[in-house]
Amino acid sequence: MHDGFAMDTDRAASPEPVFAFTPEVEAETAPLWRRLKSHITPLEWRAHAPLIAKINRLKRQKGAVILAHNYMTPDIFHGVGDYVGDSLGLAREAARCDAKIIVQAGVHFMAETSKVLCPEKTVLIPDLLAGCSLASSITAADVRLIKQRHPGLPVVTYVNTTADVKAETDVCCTSANAVQVVEHVAREWGVDRVILIPDEFLARNVARQTHIGVIAWKGRCEVHERFTGQDILDLRAAYPQAEILAHPECPTEVIELSHFTGSTAAMNDYVLTRKPRQVVLITECSMADNVAVDAVETEFVRPCNLCPHMKRISLRNIYEALLHDRYEVTVEADVIVRARAAVQRMIDMPPPSTPARYDLVKARHHVDVELI
Ligand code: 13P
Ligand code: SF4
Repeated sequence: MHDGFAMDTDRAASPEPVFAFTPEVEAETAPLWRRLKSHITPLEWRAHAPLIAKINRLKRQKGAVILAHNYMTPDIFHGVGDYVGDSLGLAREAARCDAKIIVQAGVHFMAETSKVLCPEKTVLIPDLLAGCSLASSITAADVRLIKQRHPGLPVVTYVNTTADVKAETDVCCTSANAVQVVEHVAREWGVDRVILIPDEFLARNVARQTHIGVIAWKGRCEVHERFTGQDILDLRAAYPQAEILAHPECPTEVIELSHFTGSTAAMNDYVLTRKPRQVVLITECSMADNVAVDAVETEFVRPCNLCPHMKRISLRNIYEALLHDRYEVTVEADVIVRARAAVQRMIDMPPPSTPARYDLVKARHHVDVELI
């Protein structure tokens, strides 16, 4: 026994030791259990609660914070996340927080963004293989070639990219502010076209919201590209009352058939403020699970796709990350300086009054997208 956590004796021989669900753990985690008990089974809670209690203690001892993305499972998101939200919200929080250690409960590009914004802090990611199909779709050398091909045009880069790519960029954006950033940078540079990379579908969906022409790259989110227009038609037929909310990384036909499009923060905001009777979130699976905890008046229909990268993060590896200070995310000093300028330009823009909505009414104009 140590710290009030007993090793579970009947499972002591297992290669992965588990912490026991002691009365102390039960009492410590009881308020959280009351919030989550309609969403996590009692059996699962016996496994999660000891780790949640242990992680929350370790965090306090070490002066660490956990930044948890909306796609983390509810045990992580509600159990140990100090700051939760979308990519933009987490980047803003990394810049603002005064903790010595940041544990990024998300994917590698998010941890790099935190490191770029806070080079003096230790940034840990629980699994180094938590990547992203968008981040791996483009390299810094690709961006240099794009700039040679389109001299004089600003490069707007989605945060779902490596620090090396951000270092070649004029300004970053997320799905919550992409239209605002594209219009701002076009005004500032006095141009009517911008380069918006690497997500082809985000670029196409942004182009429908603005008269600025967009030059795009053929990167895809492997989670959102799998939704099809036929999926949405089938959902509409099966659940005629349901409001369908889609992420802007989805193909344009999906957006056209959905009732609303926005970042993960915008979807969260929509459900909590408008309280639809039935809702479908066309995005990663954990999103609906997390929103459902607070949206008690809404019924969720849950066709979703899992992100294999986000799902590499677990309570177990968050605990190990904190215990052993691993895996530390490092970025070369010169890359930090250049990438930081691009991320900071985005952070310094006034936050949108409400998280961005991709308004279909605005989409009725000629859309100018060049795909590289
Ligand atoms: P946002 O949280 O910025 O909407 O991004 C979604 C995403 O896919 C992050 O990987
Ligand atoms: Fe990347 Fe898509 Fe996974 Fe987000 S959901 S981390 S964009 S692969």
